[in-house]
Amino acid sequence: MPQITYVDAGGQERTVEVSSGTSVMEGAIRNGIPGVLAECGGACSCATCHVYVDQSWTSRIGNASETERAMLEYANDARHNSRLACQITMTDALNGLRVTTPETQGG
Ligand code: FES
Repeated sequence: MPQITYVDAGGQERTVEVSSGTSVMEGAIRNGIPGVLAECGGACSCATCHVYVDQSWTSRIGNASETERAMLEYANDARHNSRLACQITMTDALNGLRVTTPETQGG
């Protein structure tokens, strides 16, 4: 099962295993990771699952859809490596993915 490491704004790391097909948002919620609120439940309509993707992974996870890019405009402190965690689906190829949760989401 692929692993995801969530890093909070203070630098604390939490690594969890998730099934392929699980979103990075679902991996956080199911494992009690702080800093991912996911108020819309994964419908790409709240931007409270905003994460920063580690630089070494940005090209491997592919580009955000137009809808996701539009929602990211509502995210606090969006950066070039910002993504919505509900829109990243884990696969074995993404084993080891690292994301940082924004301080503004309590991360
Ligand atoms: Fe709402 Fe991702 S959970 S946009």
